[in-house]
Amino acid sequence: MEELSQLIEIQKLIRNLFSDDYTGHDFFHMERVATTAGEIAKIEDADLFICEAAAWLHDVGDAKLFTDPEETIKELDLFLQRIAMNEYQINKVKEAIQDVSFSKGGNPTTLEGKIVQDADRLDAIGAIGIARAFAYGGANRNYINHDTNKNNTIQHFYDKLLKIKELLHTEAAKKIADERHRFMEVYLLQFEKEWSKTKSC
Ligand code: ADP
Ligand code: NI
Repeated sequence: MEELSQLIEIQKLIRNLFSDDYTGHDFFHMERVATTAGEIAKIEDADLFICEAAAWLHDVGDAKLFTDPEETIKELDLFLQRIAMNEYQINKVKEAIQDVSFSKGGNPTTLEGKIVQDADRLDAIGAIGIARAFAYGGANRNYINHDTNKNNTIQHFYDKLLKIKELLHTEAAKKIADERHRFMEVYLLQFEKEWSKTKSC
């Protein structure tokens, strides 16, 4: 099977697995991460096919999204064999997706893993990052903003999202991050301005 056909099969799998997500990990998140990873891969001279395939698949088997992550990873293995990926490609893809997770503090060692992690982190900042944070927060019963409770989405910006810019691996990702980071800073200033009318908390 050609690489293009393999990517089409991967997209079909992802559409099935993530079409019903409302936590910010929907099909469109995977699509953006794959597109961004492809753009960065070209600039950084990385393996384009591995970056795109791993980016599409990076959230498969994530413990917060799948009830049986181990089983899901086994099924992914069989799927990759079924679409005739060779052993080298399967290992590269699995290696790249293993350490991507931001919440698990993953630290990828391969260039392809770093690129997928950068692309995933870029989707957590900027206008879409803001939307995803509130979607995730709502789905996990977090407050919007609450002074005394740590489980609130505004706090997540200060704990994680404003730090992403400094954690990116590639120069290409850092360039994309600049505008998104500034947009979040402007957003937070405006949020605090409007929130100041909330006298009771
Ligand atoms: P990953 O999926 O790479 O493990 P995370 O789970 O940390 O990364 O984040 C995925 C998405 O969910 C991001 O858009 C992130 O902002 C959002 N998110 C994660 N934790 C929280 C939280 N506590 N409050 C609001 N949004 C969150
Ligand atoms: Ni992701």
